[in-house]
Amino acid sequence: MKPISLTRFLIEEQHAGHINADLRLLIEVVARACKTISTAIGKGALGGVLGEAGTADSIQLNIQGEAQKKLDVLSNEILLEANEWGGHLAGLASEEMDHAHPIPHAFPKGNYLLLFDPLDGSSNIDVNISVGTIFSVLHCPDEVTEPHDEHFLQPGSAQVCAGYTTYGPSTMLVLTLGRGTHAFTLDREQGSFMLTRRDLRIPEDTQEFAVNVSNQRHWEAPMQRYVADLLAGKTGPRGKDFNMRWVASMVADVHRILTRGGVFIYPLDAKCRDKGGRLRLMYEANPMAFIVEQAGGGASTGRGRLLDVEPRELHQRIPVFLGSKNEVAVAVRYHTDPA
Ligand code: AHG
Ligand code: MN
Ligand code: MN
Repeated sequence: MKPISLTRFLIEEQHAGHINADLRLLIEVVARACKTISTAIGKGALGGVLGEAGTADSIQLNIQGEAQKKLDVLSNEILLEANEWGGHLAGLASEEMDHAHPIPHAFPKGNYLLLFDPLDGSSNIDVNISVGTIFSVLHCPDEVTEPHDEHFLQPGSAQVCAGYTTYGPSTMLVLTLGRGTHAFTLDREQGSFMLTRRDLRIPEDTQEFAVNVSNQRHWEAPMQRYVADLLAGKTGPRGKDFNMRWVASMVADVHRILTRGGVFIYPLDAKCRDKGGRLRLMYEANPMAFIVEQAGGGASTGRGRLLDVEPRELHQRIPVFLGSKNEVAVAVRYHTDPA
């Protein structure tokens, strides 16, 4: 059977009363922006989009002190420009912008807030390895016409929609509206995302983990013990061999886990303890946690459910444990119940 388009999928969701016209427009606009980003990434060196933003003498940093790549800046501009004028949003926030961006007065306003990591996996851009875009949608609180940082500080459980696009051998959009997680593949000739997997389910058990093991010496004791037991394999306490993968693009690692199971962990370590973790809560951890839970997986901070965290800051960081439900539970148990 011929797959249906994202447009048809969303119209059917709207007719079923699951989403309104504004949310449909929002997702269509984000998807269109992601197609533009996909085209830019696909051109690679031919499009002049590789390398650092700024000049050789002065590297351009974002508010988190990370060097911006040209594609970080370009992807941010593409998403911003596409979403400003449609009337579906009250405001936006991004990894690459210091503060929230209320919709300018010149444009009509809607009731949604959009957060995004415009380009995830920046270290992989110049080496032609998969990168992605992550987004999260919240309601703008009632009576707020000019949303600032504080209005975005809602727990992940308040998300109305979350998704990511992975720019890999094929470009895919993975989406949840709170009723399952669905995957769409970009048909480059037609220019449309087509529904290729409805209701993805993450296997509950796994023998594959994704952790940056080069940080091992900086981890807390429970994380040290957990990974040592994984590495001990069949003859260790876990009684089975584990395989390891680490793309260093969260989107690509999570996409693999949605496809064949696994556990992804970026724990607290001595290097990132002062910041609270490595990954950002609002536009990396929360949307991924929503997508993973909707596919039957688990998502935790190592101590509690990720989606229950009450955010304090727009660019707040958090430890992330997500993927196959039973394996996430085991990893969390090492932290909460070391015995
Ligand atoms: P970003 O490119 O948006 O800053 O995010 C990169 C993140 C995430 O995608 C990935 O899992 C992690 O950083 C990789 O971290 P290491 O370089 O420490 O492996
Ligand atoms: Mn990222
Ligand atoms: Mn990024």
